[in-house]
Amino acid sequence: MAAFHYYGHSCFLIEDGKYKVLADPFLTGNPAASISADEVECDYILVSHGHADHLGDAPKIAKRTGAIVIGIPEVLSVCEEREPGIRTHAMNIGGSITLPFGKVRMTEAIHSCGVPGGLSCGYVINIGNKNVYFAGDTSLFYDMKLIGKKDTLDYAVLPIGDNFTMGLEDAALAAQWLNASNVIPIHYDTWPVIKQDVKKYKEITEEMTRAEVHILKPGSVLELA
Ligand code: NI
Ligand code: MN
Repeated sequence: MAAFHYYGHSCFLIEDGKYKVLADPFLTGNPAASISADEVECDYILVSHGHADHLGDAPKIAKRTGAIVIGIPEVLSVCEEREPGIRTHAMNIGGSITLPFGKVRMTEAIHSCGVPGGLSCGYVINIGNKNVYFAGDTSLFYDMKLIGKKDTLDYAVLPIGDNFTMGLEDAALAAQWLNASNVIPIHYDTWPVIKQDVKKYKEITEEMTRAEVHILKPGSVLELA
């Protein structure tokens, strides 16, 4: 049994009752944030890339909580510069790691990284017997079909805001190619430049795919069934 807590923009936390996995903790300065960097609790922090709206408060939260930051080496170097002594675990695209709650696999993403020499990535998170694909920031790419073939995806967490990432149509196609059972749209409405009609996204995606789309307000919790 796992629960998904949405904290706004691309930040969420999945917990299985014992372990808490936080993703892209941009909370300070995030107009959509539903929790502060000083109160969030976690054991692991997954970072998709070095842009400020993803890396965000990761170093600071790792320092306070002792959580392990997982990411691409170049992005982790930035975290370690900001908060020397924090715990990190470097991965790279295509690699998997077994953790106490399950498995994490790093997947590709098509997006700039924000850190010289780094790459943007996504993750397939196996927790509470569910496979949750977090796309990070990305365009649509055809290898999403492979991601959905390698692991049967119970949930896909996809950016839909357009401008910097996929927009509505591409994110609907992504849900189809991933063959996910459920989709959680993120990375929209935080600022005017990524304002989106999320209800329209739900409509077109549910028409094109077998997925159920869950529209979550920041601060809400979804039990992963
Ligand atoms: Ni980005
Ligand atoms: Mn972003």
